Amino acid sequence: MSKQIRGNVAIDGPAGAGKSTVARRLASRLDYLYIDTGAMYRALTWKALQQGVDLGDERALKELADTTDIFLKSDEQHQPLVYCEGLNITAAIRTPLVSRHVSLVAEKESVRRRLVELQRQMAASNRVVMDGRDIGTYVLPDAPFKFFLTASLTERARRRCLEIYNTCRPAELEQVKAEINQRDIQDSQRQFAPLKPAPDAVIIDSSQMTIEEVVARLEQIIYERSGY
Ligand code: DC
Repeated sequence: MSKQIRGNVAIDGPAGAGKSTVARRLASRLDYLYIDTGAMYRALTWKALQQGVDLGDERALKELADTTDIFLKSDEQHQPLVYCEGLNITAAIRTPLVSRHVSLVAEKESVRRRLVELQRQMAASNRVVMDGRDIGTYVLPDAPFKFFLTASLTERARRRCLEIYNTCRPAELEQVKAEINQRDIQDSQRQFAPLKPAPDAVIIDSSQMTIEEVVARLEQIIYERSGY
């Protein structure tokens, strides 16, 4: 008999904590849809940079958010793909340029309201594992399974470094560390729906854990809470 889980899964946490890899694998194990909300903020940032929109101009960004078609889907290997106006921008949204500017776009309340509306629509018609910064606190406050995934700054920078450069020399590590630290500060200090754990989230520090161990831990908690 296959185990039946009910309800959405929210995973939040700072940059480089391993949220997307964990969320993707967990979604595939539970047969849920994986939604990477960070990819949506990145897609909008990419579009704004392409069009030379002033990232300090909230009205212009809201207009862009209202009129831009952002679409998430998975390929046959369950790898998430990101499309903007029909164009595959999966790789383009991961560049350092987009990473450096995305917090400026994500801090605008009207931009967030628009993207959150889309995120809630996706969660209403699917069973989802959704990752981001405000999923448990704001996007899906009623989700029965909430996790806040974190790790030390050095460990998060090391993982990001390996992801970006395939290596992790001291100079690169220091640069990536400074960049993700800056982004965490901006994401935690913004006025509207900042990065923080939901009061009912399970906090998991993955500094000393492998991805597989984290996924197994989340799965165990979900099944236990579902009465298995
Ligand atoms: O998870 P990520 O690094 O791809 O996210 C990119 C940026 O988007 C990050 O700086 C914070 C922001 N973000 C957010 O504000 N709210 C979310 N739900 C997801 C991401």
